[in-house]
Amino acid sequence: MDEYSIKHSSSLASGGEKHILVLGGTGFVGSAVVRTLLTGGSGIRVTMLVHRSLAETEDPSVQFLHGSLGQIDLGQVMQDPPTHVVHLARFPGSSPWRRTFAGLRGACANVRLLRGLCRLPYPPRILYVSGSLMYGSRGESWVDEDTPLQPTSFGRAYIIGERPLLRYQASGKLPVMMVRPPWILGVGSWFQTYYATPMMRQGCVPCYGEGNNWMSLLHLEDCARLIQHALLHGMPGETYNLALPPVRQIDFCAYLSERSGLPLKVIPRGTLARRRDRSLMEAFGSSIRLRSRHADFLVRCPLRFGSVRAAIDDILARFEHV
Ligand SMILES: NC(=O)c1ccc[n+]([C@@H]2O[C@H](COP(=O)([O-])OP(=O)(O)OC[C@H]3O[C@@H](n4cnc5c(N)ncnc54)[C@H](OP(=O)(O)O)[C@@H]3O)[C@@H](O)[C@H]2O)c1
Repeated sequence: MDEYSIKHSSSLASGGEKHILVLGGTGFVGSAVVRTLLTGGSGIRVTMLVHRSLAETEDPSVQFLHGSLGQIDLGQVMQDPPTHVVHLARFPGSSPWRRTFAGLRGACANVRLLRGLCRLPYPPRILYVSGSLMYGSRGESWVDEDTPLQPTSFGRAYIIGERPLLRYQASGKLPVMMVRPPWILGVGSWFQTYYATPMMRQGCVPCYGEGNNWMSLLHLEDCARLIQHALLHGMPGETYNLALPPVRQIDFCAYLSERSGLPLKVIPRGTLARRRDRSLMEAFGSSIRLRSRHADFLVRCPLRFGSVRAAIDDILARFEHV
């Protein structure tokens, strides 16, 4: 991170209109980030890259760029340059080799994008939303931002797309920051597929494997607020782990069982491997006890759901209204 960029980034962080380009703003996490940015008060203008899905927002102030990340119209970006970019666009892949291919496409798209942003006279702050699977399964050990990356499960393919960002972050060529959220609790995504749907259809709470592994979690709404906090106030070059105090999977499932009144059912992890792909088994078997060495910075954005129990209570209530 060179001195000029740090100065420029700090002046942006302290005042002036912020023009935020959101990539992946139609996804599970991205939609929540857009909602948060749009309620963030005046002085924030949002442009969204829209690919296949329709944008949820009807806010007339939001501008749109259309197309794939790989073909993003850099000329248009140059004409109205963003002060900040929040990157949550992840190319999809439904099997290990498709995810690897998606990772390679993501890497090419990100190199093109980063080269384009480097050409701007005032490069924007870039916040890349990664995940805690990048640290790998670490048993009983705590995982903070100094823990070396050793991706497991889906992370093995996702890191291919992330590498260009890691290189720019390390070299300081652009003011790149990263956040690494854990399992994000919300209506949709993994919680819907692997917990809420089996609870509704099979009448039990699944626990994948023995359940002794550590699970780090965060409510979607708090995750979006922390992403906004890191984007606007974080230090270029830094990485921020975002998570509530971790719990063991068995305790997570036991609380779901207590709240729903449904029995807990142990699902042998091998069943997941046979039914789908190995990455799923690895994800549910991974033990990632996440914490941050930036607790003083993160605490300045107080959480609405400050415990796993509070987050579960809210999400279950939302499912009752779906
Ligand atoms: N979900 C979680 O619990 C969780 C936990 C930790 C970290 N994360 C991280 O958060 C990030 C976002 O995850 P998510 O769960 O929100 O994913 P998601 O729901 O699958 O959303 C992915 C987003 O990327 C966009 N996208 C895909 N291909 C694109 C392309 N070629 N060009 C432009 N945009 C494209 C999608 O738009 P279209 O649908 O229009 O293609 C969508 O907006 C990921 O990096 C993920 O690793 C997620």
